[in-house]
Amino acid sequence: MTKIALFASGNGSNAQAIIDAIERKELHAQVALIVCDRQEAYVKKRAEASGIEVFSFEAKSFNGKDQYEKLILEKLREKEVEWLILAGYMRLIGTVLLTEFENKIVNIHPSLLPAFPGKDAVGQAMDYGVKVMGVTVHYVDAGMDTGPIIAQQAFSVKEQMNLDHIQKQIHRIEHQLYPKTLQKLFKY
Ligand code: GRF
Repeated sequence: MTKIALFASGNGSNAQAIIDAIERKELHAQVALIVCDRQEAYVKKRAEASGIEVFSFEAKSFNGKDQYEKLILEKLREKEVEWLILAGYMRLIGTVLLTEFENKIVNIHPSLLPAFPGKDAVGQAMDYGVKVMGVTVHYVDAGMDTGPIIAQQAFSVKEQMNLDHIQKQIHRIEHQLYPKTLQKLFKY
C-alpha cells in the first residue's frame, strides 16, 4: 500500500475526494498524514472526521522555509510517507522536500497549464475569455505550477456559464481526475 501525505491549506475537497476514493478501494493508498499551514482550514475538520493525523504549522513562526520543511520532513519520515500529494496547498515546495521526494511530489491546478499558473487561475482564464478550460495534474518542481504534466482534462466554456458554474465544473473534474491519476502513478 502506497503511503501518502496530503498537503492542503483550505477547504480540502480534493483531499476528501482522495480519502473517499481510498475508502471505495478505487485508489490503493493510505493517507498517513495531512500537512496544513492554516490554523482555521476546514481540511483539518475533514481529517478529524476520518481519523487522520494532521501536522499543522504556521510559517511565520519559523525562520524560513528550510526550517519548517525540516520539521515536516521529520514527521514524513516517521510516518514512512512515499508520495506528497498537494491539494490546494498555497506554498511553493522548497529544497528540503524536493530533494528528499524527487519525482514523488504531485499537484493539481485548475487550468490547462502552462496557461494561467499561480493564484486565481480560474479568474485569470475568465478575464482572458478562453473558450476551453480544464484541470492539470503535474509533478512539482521549484517553480510555480511548472513541473512536467501527468494528466489534463478540458471542458468547453458555454456562453451562460458564470464563475460559480465554472468552479463547480472544475471541482467535479478534479475530484475524479486526481484519484484516477494517482492510482495510475502508484502502480509503477
Ligand atoms: C483546487 O481547485 C486545486 O486545483 C487548487 O486549489 C483548489 C483546492 O480546492 N490547487 P480544495 O481545497 O481541494 O477544495
